[in-house]
This record gives sequence, structure tokens and C-alpha cells, in this order.
Amino acid sequence: MSKFKFALIPLVLCLSVGAAAQNKAAGDACSSCHPDIAKVLPKNHEPVQPGGVKACAVCHNVGQSGEAKKNEFSAKIHLAHHAAKAECSTCHAVTPDKSFTLVGDTHSWGAPKTEDMKLIGEKMNSWAESKYTDHAHAKANVDCAGCHGKDLPVSDSTVENDRCLACHGPVEKLAAKTQNAEFPKRNPHASHLGNDIACTACHKGHQTSVVYCADCHKLWKMNIPGAGN
Ligand code: HEC
Ligand code: HEC
Ligand code: HEC
Ligand code: HEC
Ligand code: HEC
Ligand code: HEC
Ligand code: HEC
Repeated sequence: MSKFKFALIPLVLCLSVGAAAQNKAAGDACSSCHPDIAKVLPKNHEPVQPGGVKACAVCHNVGQSGEAKKNEFSAKIHLAHHAAKAECSTCHAVTPDKSFTLVGDTHSWGAPKTEDMKLIGEKMNSWAESKYTDHAHAKANVDCAGCHGKDLPVSDSTVENDRCLACHGPVEKLAAKTQNAEFPKRNPHASHLGNDIACTACHKGHQTSVVYCADCHKLWKMNIPGAGN
């Protein structure tokens, strides 16, 4: 519960009278598709005031998701509205080179350039529906920040082993899961390549994953999730 700012709610409601006009416009951003927002919230969810996505930020600690953990709120919102083809601008305000926020909120995830936003949009599509590692994580409620951290990923961003292992480690535990019964030494996570090899040598985020072992051991059959089939 500590991640929700309940104590702030009355304060925010009092102070937001002056922003009523803006709230109404932002509220319309949801109500054009959801005349009754309660219908799409989880059962027994707290009542929500009108005010667009900003009204969610009152309790959901947005922008705090820099940690390596699941974020069901973010994942559900992005998956549903990808499918609904809702514009990012329904919920986000982007000022190129300056800020990327929620409409009406102040927290900024970074200062993406226009090209960065194009790339982020493409990766969002992939995360929402691809056959790659990204989509397996979307289905498991891991959003962009779950892998990339607090700052928006941009061109050439990658993910370091520590980040993957925060959820999948320690590496010995991972290796135990991928023990090959027939050929015990052919373990992708415990080989003569050592533990310094990048997870991303094999597991690609937004493209076809490959088994790097097969570069040399050409006759071995090893499958990897996210290979695109
Ligand atoms: C372009 C239309 C559209 C707009 C605008 C829109 N939504 Fe949605 N939303 C959908 C559709 C379609 C679904 C799928 C579920 C349904 O409606 O039955 C959905 C689902 C949801 C869900 C349920 C997600 C889940 O999987 O549990 C939530 C929560 C939600 N919307 C919140 C919002 C909020 C908050 C706003 C405004 C900031 C908003 N939506 C704006 C179309 C829209
Ligand atoms: C008054 C506080 C409050 C407001 C405002 C609020 N929520 Fe929530 N919401 C909660 C709480 C509490 C939970 C349960 C969280 C948990 O179990 O970790 C929750 C859970 C959810 C979940 C289920 C996923 C999850 O993170 O557990 C979704 C989806 C969700 N809220 C969507 C929304 C949307 C969309 C809005 C804005 C339209 C919104 N909420 C506004 C308090 C709030
Ligand atoms: C219906 C509202 C809604 C729509 C539409 C929406 N977002 Fe978001 N977005 C949110 C909310 C709410 C958060 C904050 C989640 C949090 O921090 O828990 C967020 C956060 C983010 C983040 C930072 C957190 C993360 O996942 O890493 C990125 C990146 C992002 N959105 C990209 C996009 C892009 C790209 C689009 C359009 C393709 C889009 N969003 C459409 C509501 C929306
Ligand atoms: C499973 C972890 C994971 C998740 C979740 C994830 N990514 Fe990535 N992302 C990666 C990895 C790994 C790379 C390195 C390139 C690759 O393997 O495709 C990457 C690269 C990127 C890049 C740089 C790509 C380039 O062409 O230079 C961007 C931009 C990006 N991700 C955006 C996103 C966005 C936006 C989301 C959420 C919609 C997201 N990522 C979710 C793992 C992830
Ligand atoms: C926030 C936690 C988190 C982070 C960070 C994370 N993962 Fe995952 N990953 C999950 C969850 C949850 C699943 C769903 C299955 C499960 O529960 O293990 C998953 C599934 C997977 C799968 C199986 C996919 C499938 O299709 O069966 C692979 C492979 C994987 N992750 C690799 C990675 C790699 C590589 C990274 C770093 C680039 C990474 N993960 C980062 C949580 C995470
Ligand atoms: C040399 C290639 C390679 C590297 C490097 C690699 N993996 Fe894997 N990974 C694989 C293969 C192949 C599988 C499928 C193994 C299987 O199905 O038995 C796999 C499976 C997984 C799975 C799914 C395990 C399950 O529950 O079945 C996870 C999670 C995972 N890898 C995470 C990681 C992480 C985290 C790293 C970096 C520390 C990493 N991998 C490095 C090749 C690799
Ligand atoms: C850069 C080339 C290269 C890569 C990549 C590579 N290996 Fe090897 N590996 C070799 C060489 C060379 C030998 C020793 C010659 C031999 O026995 O084939 C060897 C030997 C082995 C052996 C002992 C011989 C056998 O056939 O049982 C195992 C087991 C093995 N590698 C596993 C792996 C695994 C698992 C990976 C991926 C995580 C991998 N290797 C990646 C080059 C490579």
C-alpha cells in the first residue's frame, strides 16, 4: 500500500479547482470511449474522480517504476490502448527535447527528441504484439521501465545483465532451470563462455533471439524463447 499517496488525495482535490477546465478537457480524453470509467477498472477498485489520466496518478505512483519489478497498472493501460489504437497523446504530453509526461502531471521520464518518440512508438508496438522477448514481458506485466529503468530508452539503449538478473537471477538458479537432460554440459547459462557474456548476445529485446552457441557448435539443436516462431 505504501506506494499509493492516499494522504495527498484531499489536498489534490482542494487545490485542483483552478484547474477544473483543464481537468474537464483531460477527462473527456477518457470519457469519449469510457462514458463510465468504473466499468473498465478492476472489480472493487476505489472510486475515481474525472480528470483523465491525471486522476489515476493521484494514487498510482507514476514514474516511480524505475525498479526492476512488474507494473500491472502500466502494462494493462498500454496493452489495452494499443489494441484500441488510442493515440499516445490521449495520456501523454511530449515537448521535444524537453519533457515526456502524463497530460496534466509534472513527472517527466526524460527529454526525448522527435526521432526518439518515433522509435519508442515502434518498440511499444513490438512490446504489445511481437513474438519476441518484449511481448513475453508485456504479458507478464513488465513495462518498458521494468527493463530499461526510470529514463526513457532511446536509440542504441540496451539492458545490462544485472537488470535481467534482478528478476531472473541468481545465474546459478537460472542455469538449474535450463539444464539439458541429454547433454548436461550444453547449458546456455553455464558454459565455457563464462558469466560475463551479455544476456543480449542471445536474448534480443525487440528482435529475433538467437542461440550464440550455434555460431560455433553448428550441429547442436538448441531452442530459445523469442526466436520469432
Ligand atoms: C480511443 C478509445 C479510448 C480512449 C480515448 C481511452 N480508452 Fe481506455 N480502453 C479502450 C478500449 C477499447 C479498452 C478495452 C476494454 C473495453 O473497453 O472493454 C480500454 C480499456 C481500458 C482499461 C482496462 C484495461 C485492462 O486491461 O484492465 C482501463 C483501466 C482504461 N481503458 C482506462 C482509460 C483511461 C484512464 C483513459 C483516459 C486517460 C482511457 N482509457 C481512454 C479505449 C479507450
Ligand atoms: C483513490 C486511489 C486510486 C485512484 C484515483 C486510482 N487507483 Fe487504480 N488502484 C488503486 C489501488 C489501491 C489498487 C490496488 C493496488 C494493489 O493491489 O497493488 C489499484 C489497482 C489498479 C489496477 C490493477 C493493477 C494494479 O496495479 O494492481 C488498475 C488497472 C488500475 N488501478 C487502474 C486505474 C486507473 C486507470 C485509474 C485512473 C482512471 C486509477 N486506477 C485510479 C487505487 C487507485
Ligand atoms: C490511456 C492512457 C495511456 C496511453 C494511451 C498511453 N500511455 Fe504511456 N503511460 C500511461 C501511464 C498511466 C503511465 C505511467 C505508468 C507508471 O509509471 O506506472 C505511462 C507511462 C509511459 C512510459 C514510461 C513508463 C514505462 O512504461 O516505461 C512510456 C515509455 C510510455 N508511457 C509510452 C507510451 C507510448 C509510446 C504511447 C502510445 C503508443 C502511450 N504510452 C500511450 C498511460 C498511457
Ligand atoms: C525484456 C526487457 C525489455 C522490455 C520490457 C523493453 N525493452 Fe527495449 N530493449 C531491450 C533490449 C535487450 C534492447 C537492446 C536491443 C535489442 O535487443 O532489441 C532494447 C532496446 C530498446 C531501444 C533501442 C533500440 C534501437 O533500435 O536502438 C528502445 C528505443 C527501446 N528498447 C524501447 C523500449 C520501449 C518503448 C519499451 C516498452 C514499450 C521497451 N523497450 C521494453 C529490452 C527490453
Ligand atoms: C521486472 C522483472 C523482469 C526483468 C527486468 C526481466 N524479466 Fe524476463 N521475465 C520476467 C517475467 C515475470 C517473465 C514471465 C515468466 C516468468 O515468470 O519467469 C519473464 C520471462 C522471460 C523469458 C521467457 C520468455 C518466454 O517467451 O517464455 C526470458 C527468456 C526472459 N524473461 C529474459 C529476460 C532478459 C534477457 C532480460 C533482460 C534483458 C529480462 N528477462 C528482464 C521478468 C523480468
Ligand atoms: C548463449 C546464449 C544465451 C545467453 C548468453 C543467455 N541465455 Fe537465457 N536462454 C538461452 C536459451 C537457449 C534458453 C532456452 C533454454 C531451454 O529452453 O532449456 C534460455 C532461456 C532463458 C530463460 C527462460 C528460462 C526458463 O524458465 O525456462 C530466461 C529467464 C533466460 N534465459 C534469461 C537469461 C538471462 C537473464 C541471461 C543473462 C544473465 C541469459 N538468459 C543469457 C540462451 C542464452
Ligand atoms: C566462439 C566459438 C564458441 C562458442 C560461441 C561456443 N563454443 Fe563451446 N566450444 C568451442 C570450442 C572451440 C570447443 C572445444 C572444441 C570442441 O570440443 O568442439 C568448445 C567446447 C564445448 C563443449 C565441450 C565439447 C562438447 O562437444 O561437449 C561444450 C559442452 C560447449 N562447448 C558448450 C558451449 C555452449 C553451451 C555454448 C553457448 C553458451 C558454447 N559452447 C559456445 C567454441 C565455442
